[in-house]
Amino acid sequence: MKKALICAMLMASSAIGARASESTNDSLYLFSYASDNINGNGGLRLAWSADGKMWHKIGGGYDFVKSDYGAWGSGKRMFDPVLERQKGGIWVCSWLVKKDGCVMALTESRDLLLWKPQDYMSARVMMGPNRNVPRDTVAFNDGTRATGRVHRVEKQVVENVIAEYERRQYRTARNNELMKDDKARFAGLGKVTVTVTPRPQDQKAISPDLFGVFFEDINYAADGGLYAELVQNRGFEYSDADHPRHEGWGPAYAWRTYGGAALSFDTANPIHANNAHYAVLDVSKPGDAMANTGFDGIAVKQGDTYLLSLFGRMVEGNGRRVRVALRTKDGREIGSVAVTLPRDGWRKLNAKIKATETAADAELAIMPEAAGRYAFDMVSLFPKDTYKGRRNGLRRDLAEAIANLKPRFVRFPGGCVAHGNGIQNIYRWKNTVGPLESRKGMANIWRYHQSVDLGFYEYFQFCEDMGAEPLPVLAAGVPCQNSSWGGDGQQGGIPLGKEMDEYIQDVLDLIEWANGDKTTKWGRVRAEAGHPKPFNLKYVGIGNEDLISEVFKERFKLIYDAVKAKYPDITVIGTVGPFYEGSDYEYGWQFAKELDVPIVDEHYYCPPGWFIHNRDFYDAYDRRGPKVYLGEYAAHAPGRPNNMETALSVALYLTDLERNADVVSLSSFAPLMARRGNTQWTPDMMYFDNTSVRLTTDYYVQRMYGQNVGDDYIPATVASDNDREDVNLRFGQSVVRDKETGDVIIKLVNALPVGVECRLNLGDMVADGTPTEVERMAGEPSDTRAKPSKTTGTISKEQAISLEPYSFTVIRAKAGSTLKK
Ligand code: AHR
Repeated sequence: MKKALICAMLMASSAIGARASESTNDSLYLFSYASDNINGNGGLRLAWSADGKMWHKIGGGYDFVKSDYGAWGSGKRMFDPVLERQKGGIWVCSWLVKKDGCVMALTESRDLLLWKPQDYMSARVMMGPNRNVPRDTVAFNDGTRATGRVHRVEKQVVENVIAEYERRQYRTARNNELMKDDKARFAGLGKVTVTVTPRPQDQKAISPDLFGVFFEDINYAADGGLYAELVQNRGFEYSDADHPRHEGWGPAYAWRTYGGAALSFDTANPIHANNAHYAVLDVSKPGDAMANTGFDGIAVKQGDTYLLSLFGRMVEGNGRRVRVALRTKDGREIGSVAVTLPRDGWRKLNAKIKATETAADAELAIMPEAAGRYAFDMVSLFPKDTYKGRRNGLRRDLAEAIANLKPRFVRFPGGCVAHGNGIQNIYRWKNTVGPLESRKGMANIWRYHQSVDLGFYEYFQFCEDMGAEPLPVLAAGVPCQNSSWGGDGQQGGIPLGKEMDEYIQDVLDLIEWANGDKTTKWGRVRAEAGHPKPFNLKYVGIGNEDLISEVFKERFKLIYDAVKAKYPDITVIGTVGPFYEGSDYEYGWQFAKELDVPIVDEHYYCPPGWFIHNRDFYDAYDRRGPKVYLGEYAAHAPGRPNNMETALSVALYLTDLERNADVVSLSSFAPLMARRGNTQWTPDMMYFDNTSVRLTTDYYVQRMYGQNVGDDYIPATVASDNDREDVNLRFGQSVVRDKETGDVIIKLVNALPVGVECRLNLGDMVADGTPTEVERMAGEPSDTRAKPSKTTGTISKEQAISLEPYSFTVIRAKAGSTLKK
């Protein structure tokens, strides 16, 4: 219906094309054109003219509309855009997204600035004839020429566009301010004195769930990361589809043979249809072997026990005995065990190997003792020592680093992994529970394979072990708008009808799986997996920074209504696009308000300066509308480091997030972690290899907040002896109180190159001499290795604190105990 309407309007408007001679004093000429019609890599540009002869590019060729169709980056193209103005004054822009012209994109705007989320359709069927409008070629004042459409418009239209372009430029320049220029920016600045007087009488309740974590299987965060499995590609399910054009990627990846052994792969009589491939090892003599090289080697510690399991069966031969050994690079065995394979079909075999030496890059070798053909699948080696000792568990050091953040919730499985690369790649939770051999691994949107063996069960268990709420995010029936499979982006949602109904049922079943008692169908599945008690799920996210298209909206509403009807106590979290402004943000919010969605998920990755200059971002948010989950954010400085600059700009912003935690209920920095050498996205909060974890400055900021949350925010009056706005913007403070302990927590951020004396007037919030724990982190903006350190002391009702240049300080005053006395 909507498409037909736009079609008719476009036809009506095609006669509006203006001629230069028609100009008046109140009108100007506007020219719309494509920046690059050959490769389609640019967007829609605008130029103006008073006389239709001398043309000026607005913003020197700024893209006012960019195509959002297709894969990231150069996959998004715009050919031959046609801008038309309808009778009601609405501007409609259509363009071809492919060179062959078979798919057309459409968007509309009232002011040429805020554009609606784009819709895509078959150009031949729906729109072909309507683009048959005259094009003009004009010459710009810089000597270049372009072909496009000339319009006659009110002067105001052009003036508004130019003014907004200039505002955008101004904001961009401010957001791009970097601390490396602080010396010049703050030349001559002396110590700043700030007086902070909290007003406990104005305190307000804030979300105690404010700080959580975002876990996505990006950067090998799951397999080869948090999931403690040491064998890579244990099920031989790596396939070409995971990683097109990656040499050697497939069932044999991370496996090698020794001696005269031959390794092949079969799918006849697999251990499970979802795990179709298995290995067949053909050996003619002892010493012939296959070995797994792990994730860049297998790291083992002398004296530690490793749990081996594998499915095996004899295909041919009488030997049956197979030795499985940890082997160093130079061929020494540092622990082994023997298993006997059955002749009569698959059997799961379990054994233990004790490492006799420490090695960073051992292999797991499988060495039959006699000639024959041996079949293997799900060859697994786990350290016995996992987080909380769980079987099929998590790497202890990484899990503990996450637990130390004291997250109030864990988002899972993404990110883009949640909605996937095309509808066939949408993450389906049901594929990730049940016996490991029955799980259905799949291609990971970040171009590797995900086993899903760190699946929903392991995830919920991890949350419970840390005392965090699970916050699963499920696709809204649409894949990632940047999908590259098929090249068609999200415009293909799950077909409405039977398939979409089944998908909606999957969402409902997840809630039953998590919360239903063991007499329910899915509650029983959870109980059988080892968790008879419900997990007490409260939140479900639907959608991940999707394009707010009609395709999305239709599907989101179906899911949302179904969840609300069956599980009114579940808080559904909607989505408002990948930026802090623009069409998905604006129209996403509008849609969420229409539907009365309780919380929406905002994402923004911005330069450090954005966080400094947008500290009031949530101040004007409607307190009666949907709450906010700031689900993904990070400060991205040039080169994408984690340093004091990224950490401090976020620390500063988080003081304001606490101030606004009556509207922002949840937040999570993203991404959480990355495997060195397999990183698709930086910066991350922590980096790891097989034996070590590096915590970053951004991690420490999150930990300092996560360990110091409050449930009441205490506003303060802040008086500075300096009246420069840019100086005062770089000082942040937040005072919260933890109701249970009565502790008063004061966070102080100094993002200036000079010291700040902070005079705290705490009044009756503390007694003189109240014991404190103080955690402080300081360093030059480019410092990537800064770490916080802790001291103890006391605090008085009136207390001066010296804040070092570029520092973040958290003071925890144990006020509860003192004041009770
Ligand atoms: O955090 C990395 C990616 O950023 C997420 O997968 C996606 O949601 C966002 O674009």
